[in-house]
Amino acid sequence: MAAPHPATNESVLNDVQRQAVEAGVSLDALPQHVAIIMDGNGRWATSRGLPRLLGHREGYRSLRTVIKDAYDLGLKYLTVYALTAETWRRPDDEDEGLMKLIEKATRDELRVMHQNNVKVRAAGRIHEVPESLRQALEDGIETTKDNTGLVFTLAVYYGGRAEIVDAVRALVQEGATPEAITEDALRAHLYNSDIPDPDLMIRTAGEMRWSNFLIWQSAYAELAVTEATWPEFRLEHMIEAIKQFQSRKRKFGGL
Ligand code: IPE
Ligand code: MG
Repeated sequence: MAAPHPATNESVLNDVQRQAVEAGVSLDALPQHVAIIMDGNGRWATSRGLPRLLGHREGYRSLRTVIKDAYDLGLKYLTVYALTAETWRRPDDEDEGLMKLIEKATRDELRVMHQNNVKVRAAGRIHEVPESLRQALEDGIETTKDNTGLVFTLAVYYGGRAEIVDAVRALVQEGATPEAITEDALRAHLYNSDIPDPDLMIRTAGEMRWSNFLIWQSAYAELAVTEATWPEFRLEHMIEAIKQFQSRKRKFGGL
C-alpha cells in the first residue's frame, strides 16, 4: 500500500484543513487559484439599516479571515475583486470611503501577511489609482516580493476588457505583427502573466454574472455562487464552493 500523502495524514492537518476534510473536501485536489467576486456589502448593510460603508468595513473582516483560511488550507493563489475600473459610478463619498478603507487595510494587514509568507500583488490600471493607495499597494508588493506562500492579488481599478486592451496595446507598442498576436502572446501581456488562470471563481450575494472580472483568465474556471453576502462569507462557504468544484468534471472543451 502506498504511503499516505502528507497532506492527508490526519496528524499534520491544521484546524482549517481538518474542517475541510470533515466536510468532504479532498486536500489532494484543491483548486490552485481561487478568484472571488466579493459582492453584497451594500445589501448586507442596508438590510440592517446601516450605512453602506459599514458593509464594506464588515467585508474587510471577511477578507482578512478568508486570506488566513486560504493559506491554512493550502491554496496557492487567491485573487479578489476589490475595486472596478468603474468605481466612479458609486456616489463620491462611498467611493472615497471604500478607497480609504482599502488603503488602510493594505497598510494594516501588511505585517501579518508578511509574517505568514503571503506575497501581495495587484491587478488593474494601477497607474490610475490615487497616489496614497498606490503607494500602499506598492509598499505591500515590494515588502513581500520574496515570499513563497499564498499569492494574494488585489484587483483595484480593474476591468477585464481594459486588461485585454492594455495587453494588446503593449503588444503593439513592442511592434508585434498581426501574426505575432497569438493567444499565448496576449496572455503573456496580461497584468500578472506569472499567475496561473483561476480554476475556481466564487461569487457572493447570489448574482450570476462575471462582471468583467478576469474574463480572459476565467474562460475555463468553474463558477460557484453563494447566497451569502460577502460580509457573511466564511470558511464554510469556501468549503462548499471547493466541494462543488471537486464534484464537477473539468473537460476544457474535450470529452
Ligand atoms: C461589494 O459590495 C463591494 C466591493 C467589493 C467593493 P457592493 O457594494 O457591490 O454591495 P451591493 O451589491 O450593493 O449589495
Ligand atoms: Mg454589488
